[in-house]
Amino acid sequence: MKSICGECKEIINEPFRTLCDKCTKEAKEKRKGNIKTLLLYATNKCNLSCSHCFYHKDLNTEMQQLSIKQIEQIVKETKPKGITLCGGEPMLRNDLLEICKILDTNGVERIGIMTNGFLVNKTKKVVEEILKNVKATVNVNMSLDGLEKTHNKIRRNKLAFKTVVETTKELRPFLNKYPNFQTCVRTVVMKENYRELEKLSEFIDEELKIPHFFELIRGIDYSGVPEKFSNLPYNPEEMDLFLTDNIMEELKKIFWSIFKRRGVGVKEYLRQASQYKLYILLMDILRNKKQIVKCTAGEGAGVIYPNGDVALCEYLKPVGNINNKSFNKIWNSKEADEQREIMNDCYCTHGCFVSGCVFDKKIKGKLNRLKAGGMLIKNQQKTERIADFLDEIGGGKQ
Ligand SMILES: C[S@@+](CC[C@H](N)C(=O)[O-])C[C@H]1O[C@@H](n2cnc3c(N)ncnc32)[C@H](O)[C@@H]1O
Ligand code: SF4
Ligand code: SF4
Repeated sequence: MKSICGECKEIINEPFRTLCDKCTKEAKEKRKGNIKTLLLYATNKCNLSCSHCFYHKDLNTEMQQLSIKQIEQIVKETKPKGITLCGGEPMLRNDLLEICKILDTNGVERIGIMTNGFLVNKTKKVVEEILKNVKATVNVNMSLDGLEKTHNKIRRNKLAFKTVVETTKELRPFLNKYPNFQTCVRTVVMKENYRELEKLSEFIDEELKIPHFFELIRGIDYSGVPEKFSNLPYNPEEMDLFLTDNIMEELKKIFWSIFKRRGVGVKEYLRQASQYKLYILLMDILRNKKQIVKCTAGEGAGVIYPNGDVALCEYLKPVGNINNKSFNKIWNSKEADEQREIMNDCYCTHGCFVSGCVFDKKIKGKLNRLKAGGMLIKNQQKTERIADFLDEIGGGKQ
């Protein structure tokens, strides 16, 4: 499958690309001043020590967290529309409400909170307080990596499953009470859990009744980032990638089966279809060791660690620290630009950075309209790509 550059009309030998390399570079230059989303590590403290955690080396070392003032400064400077609070465990901060208020008053429209859901009562109380006090959409993402035995083993705590399940049940009623509330469950796919993903997805649909997404576990080093720039290690060594070709084929069938069960009705079909497509794409990235869709890191998206380090993505070494320089100076520094140079050659399966590029809003909207059966789609290239996509999904090529 080929595509055509939306700017200079050159033919590109890769599907899903909207711009050729030259136009991508020019667009990057324009976009780097336009940060849309920041991944902000709220703390390096955690109440669990999960076997797969990519952040394990920094967890619970000397306490690190940005002050409210520093967070306010960053938001004022960068004006992102979305901020995702992760860590460590964000619920361990006692000023989460204050942080969310600051984000909200400074124009952040989407606040994401990644949590292990271990603190049931605190999570319920803090999330409700936040919802009462901010206009922004608040999306609480809870980690659930398997059914009880598996999740507890991965999370190394015998109460991990029970607590996160309880938290999802406590939060779910907020969906009816607060229009700005969203929630979901996230599963990191790894050797320990891939065979029970289907059962887990059934449990989530029947018992938790909230959306569910997958992310592939990172590898020790498979990102193609040159050593000089690489923020190794990406994973605990014993949890390195397991995705052999055979397992990926098996996994593809599992995802297909989940997609078919969940994708009932037009809206859900499209939602599940784009998820399925994303998982297949992530596996293709792994298999081909190649960036297949353009990644948003370093332009529309960036990372800030609790000690103030700024990075273009989690796989790349930080390029500066806000305790020494302003965020914007770091973002526009020659160190940052040097890393941007290699960004066409690296690859990874980081959902946050990669998934946004698979189907942008426009394509999603057109997909909806196309499927709904009516409206004229002006852009011929996009129509063809959408049609290819629907064929592929509809044909269930596996
Ligand atoms: C680092 S945690 C921080 C938030 C919170 N403590 C939690 O566990 O949800 C953010 C997300 O990264 C995921 N994660 C941890 N280690 C990972 C790895 N090696 N590969 C991919 N995702 C990973 C977690 O499962 C969680 O969904
Ligand atoms: S709860 Fe989150 S941050 Fe803590 S160890 Fe587990 S994955 Fe890592
Ligand atoms: S593809 Fe993007 S997120 Fe992944 S390593 Fe490269 S720059 Fe980072």
